[in-house]
Amino acid sequence: MPKPTLLLTRRFPDAVEARAQRDYVTMPNPSDKPMDGLALAAAAARGEARGILCAAGDALDSGTIAALPDSVKIIATFSVGTDHIDLGAARERGIIVTNTPDVLSVATAEIAMLLILTAARRGGEAERMLRAREWTGWAPTQLMGVTLENKALGILGMGRIGQALAQMARGFGMQIHYRNRNRLPPAEEAGATYHDNDTDFLGAIDVLSMHIPGGAATRHWLDARRIAQLRKGAIVVNTGRGTTVDDTALCAALQGGHLRAAGLDVFAGEPNIFEGYHSTPNLVLLPHLGSATVETRDAMGFRCLDNLDAVLIRGEAPLHPAG
Ligand code: DGY
Repeated sequence: MPKPTLLLTRRFPDAVEARAQRDYVTMPNPSDKPMDGLALAAAAARGEARGILCAAGDALDSGTIAALPDSVKIIATFSVGTDHIDLGAARERGIIVTNTPDVLSVATAEIAMLLILTAARRGGEAERMLRAREWTGWAPTQLMGVTLENKALGILGMGRIGQALAQMARGFGMQIHYRNRNRLPPAEEAGATYHDNDTDFLGAIDVLSMHIPGGAATRHWLDARRIAQLRKGAIVVNTGRGTTVDDTALCAALQGGHLRAAGLDVFAGEPNIFEGYHSTPNLVLLPHLGSATVETRDAMGFRCLDNLDAVLIRGEAPLHPAG
């Protein structure tokens, strides 16, 4: 049987591209930038691609999906998030969409923990001070942060990433609170406290870690009203999707002192970030690094290829259908 054609919208890790080349006629793209939707559809048509390996940031909106050739049977996204793909439009065209759950949970939880630690201990400010040659020496009151031990960590969205973070944070002596669609008895057996409403949840915690998907339903979940319900001096971190935070409200709460600090790995409109963030010192910024480890990025790519193989090579159901 001839090898199916696979369109790669970006440069992927070497091991992933090598395996793709072994099993498919590949249409590689050496760029690190997202592909324009119509260029993507035109390339798929030119190569009669049967599969598309894409990533977060590639805009597979309804227009792009409508423009795809009939040859495309599956879109495998190199991400757990699927908010860049119009799942409904894909379903209507009978195109399977798959994602990469599980394999990035620990790496993303590590970045959440890194942001919590850096925000609490003022690591960003400290590093900037040294690089600016402004350190005048150790001082009893210099750059005092807060210790995490005995603080309450509120996990919004207790999926696999939230659960991995809970396990790490317990190692720092934090008490775990969570808000989730449904209760998780194993999390509670491990000592986590469930909250069935936002007000109680936000009022009970010292650190909020956000792990909810993007999309219309969660847009600006963290707005001025909910920020006001957090304790004064609370810390906020977000490793989910930038659209879930009202940037204007967060920036005002950081600059006005209601929040002690924040850490963000994701932004609405990436790679652009909200202008006010540039001049907010008590904010740690990372460029969407959640899953960025060698091990995790290889595993994400292999998971995409496992799904592509199931559908295009073996004619089976996908392993990780999205939506
Ligand atoms: C994901 O997998 O959704 C991460 O945000 C990386 O794209």
